[in-house]
Amino acid sequence: MLERVLSIRSRNAQINDDEDDENLDDESKTRKNISFAMRASNQVTKFGVLWPCLLLILIFVLIASALLHSRNIVCLASNDPYYSRLNFFGSIDGLASDFGSLGVPWCRSKLGQTVEWTSKDLLKGLEEFVPIYETRPIKNNMYGMGFDHSFGLWFMARWLKPELMIESGAFKGHSTWVLRQAMPDTPIISLTPRHPEKYLKKGPAYVDGNCTYFSGKDFVDFGSVNWESVLKKHGVSDRSRVLIFFDDHQNELKRLKQALKAGFRHLIFEDNYDTGTGDHYSLRQICDQFYIRGGGHSCFSDSDEARIRTKRKKFWEKALDVEELCGEKEEAWWGVRGYMRDDFNHSNKAISFTEHFQNSRFVESVLDVYWELPPVAGPSLTHQTRYDPARAPSPVVEDGRFGLFKRLGLTRFETSVFNGYTQMVYLQISESA
Ligand SMILES: C[S@@+](CC[C@H](N)C(=O)[O-])C[C@H]1O[C@@H](n2cnc3c(N)ncnc32)[C@H](O)[C@@H]1O
Repeated sequence: MLERVLSIRSRNAQINDDEDDENLDDESKTRKNISFAMRASNQVTKFGVLWPCLLLILIFVLIASALLHSRNIVCLASNDPYYSRLNFFGSIDGLASDFGSLGVPWCRSKLGQTVEWTSKDLLKGLEEFVPIYETRPIKNNMYGMGFDHSFGLWFMARWLKPELMIESGAFKGHSTWVLRQAMPDTPIISLTPRHPEKYLKKGPAYVDGNCTYFSGKDFVDFGSVNWESVLKKHGVSDRSRVLIFFDDHQNELKRLKQALKAGFRHLIFEDNYDTGTGDHYSLRQICDQFYIRGGGHSCFSDSDEARIRTKRKKFWEKALDVEELCGEKEEAWWGVRGYMRDDFNHSNKAISFTEHFQNSRFVESVLDVYWELPPVAGPSLTHQTRYDPARAPSPVVEDGRFGLFKRLGLTRFETSVFNGYTQMVYLQISESA
């Protein structure tokens, strides 16, 4: 699995062939339009006296044809929040780039390695995953994963091909179902306080036949499991062939240390909350701009950052202004207002900037790979209104590519399934040298 992740390989993406077809189609349409225009102009010369009328008809036909054949037209109602965002920022590009030097935080890996999959692979994966997602047993997974993260988990599990999958935090079992779609025969271990079967009494839930549940009276927290004995029972001797998925809202620094101690190497965190948000200390928070003195964030109310944040907050529910970002007294922006939150924010601890800095140094010393899942599509396509695209990587299907978005089948979903994106992250870790 390790070799698979580190080597770079290229694949022929069918999607790309399709794109070429799409371009060819467009080209032949242009040719048709040109030859139509030439024929029309010949007729104008022929019928000299009638030319003003013919010219008007020609202009009308050309405009109507252009409107009818445009592949990228997105219908926007004037009360659509995206439409008003577009008006405000002036362009789609402006939406994604006016965060200036703040940009998108990321963790540096030891040797600068990255994943082997490319954006073409993600596109190809999307094409396969859409019909799978349509068969999900839990249609409305409020408080659990939406489309973006379901796709990310499925894609990575299928690519990494682990011998065993461990999930911490199953809720009604949607993520267990996603793992099962990725790897039909691979055993799963699920650690979750309430057994998903309990939810079956009230509505849809998913219970897997090849999954060992540590739940109810058998629940054990990830950090307290005797992995030696559990892995032996599952016949797993190589811990680098195990994939761990955390969706349990625990301090991710704590989880990272526990996984490292147990010898696991491949981790996915579902909720990789941005600085100033969320109910637990996340990788993103840990790595946010630590290498710039003061973190690069400005807590001054009349700073450029304050102005930009105030503007963006009007349009994205999860965007923060500097008042929300920074603590009242110490101007502490790291974590959530200087706090390291844990366990759904049932516990939190104030940490100094020095501790935060040390945490980031520790994390980077054990990171082989850090990769954030991009959103599946831009906000003009998904109509999501929650996360600020300026704080996310570029989407798999970029704004403006409505034809592709539609061809992938993504228009068939309710927009609410695209609202849960929180920068899911894949980590590959090893003890520092
Ligand atoms: C956000 S939900 C998980 C959603 C699920 N993965 C999905 O996609 O539908 C969080 C889950 O974590 C569980 N949880 C709480 N504390 C936990 C712990 N210490 N270890 C594992 N799971 C925990 C909660 O009971 C809840 O089921």
